[in-house]
Amino acid sequence: MPSRLVVLVSGAGTNLQALLEAAEDPSYGAQVVAVGADRDDIEGLARAEKAGVPTFVRKVGDFTSRGHWDITLTDTVAAFEPDLVVLAGFMKLVGPEFLGRFTGRVVNTHPALCPAFPGTSGPADALAYGVKVTGATLFVVDEGVDTGPIIAQATVPVEDTDDVESLHDRIKVAERSMLVETVGRLAREGFTITDRKVRIG
Ligand code: GAR
Repeated sequence: MPSRLVVLVSGAGTNLQALLEAAEDPSYGAQVVAVGADRDDIEGLARAEKAGVPTFVRKVGDFTSRGHWDITLTDTVAAFEPDLVVLAGFMKLVGPEFLGRFTGRVVNTHPALCPAFPGTSGPADALAYGVKVTGATLFVVDEGVDTGPIIAQATVPVEDTDDVESLHDRIKVAERSMLVETVGRLAREGFTITDRKVRIG
């Protein structure tokens, strides 16, 4: 049986699209069983609908507290019985209930080389700092901000002519390949984490 992926998005969903396309091949070993978001009317949800994948939206502002949002998001995701939850441009921190229910099974892709430039503006922060190389990181989510055990990284050069958009676009090309290749391997081969070291297979 292919691994069941629930993917959470907040925006364009190009990483999601790459996973949806990879999963069309049965040998990929994983299928996207649901796509969730923290906001309406985003391209990521439209991509899922076009692919015939169930979607749901859970907005923080619709709940009386962040904790209630966390519980509801957790229950909603759990109903799809995921083997792996992929945060692909999901711009919210998942809470303790979520991490408790899916311990070690939530992965996030971040557009910087962790531990550098955590947070929501990785490409802008890398550009402002003046680094010559940046990239993307896939990691297992823990309670920190982009601090979890690293599964894979991809590097890209920073060009003198880059602005935030051109740099982020270049990162996203490398990020999509890394995400698709690595999630497929996680699904087919499994993985372990010992002293922060992630080993696939
Ligand atoms: C990706 O580059 C992802 O790494 C980033 O948002 C982009 C989403 O693109 N996530 C973060 O910055 C999270 N801290 P997409 O919606 O086209 O997949």
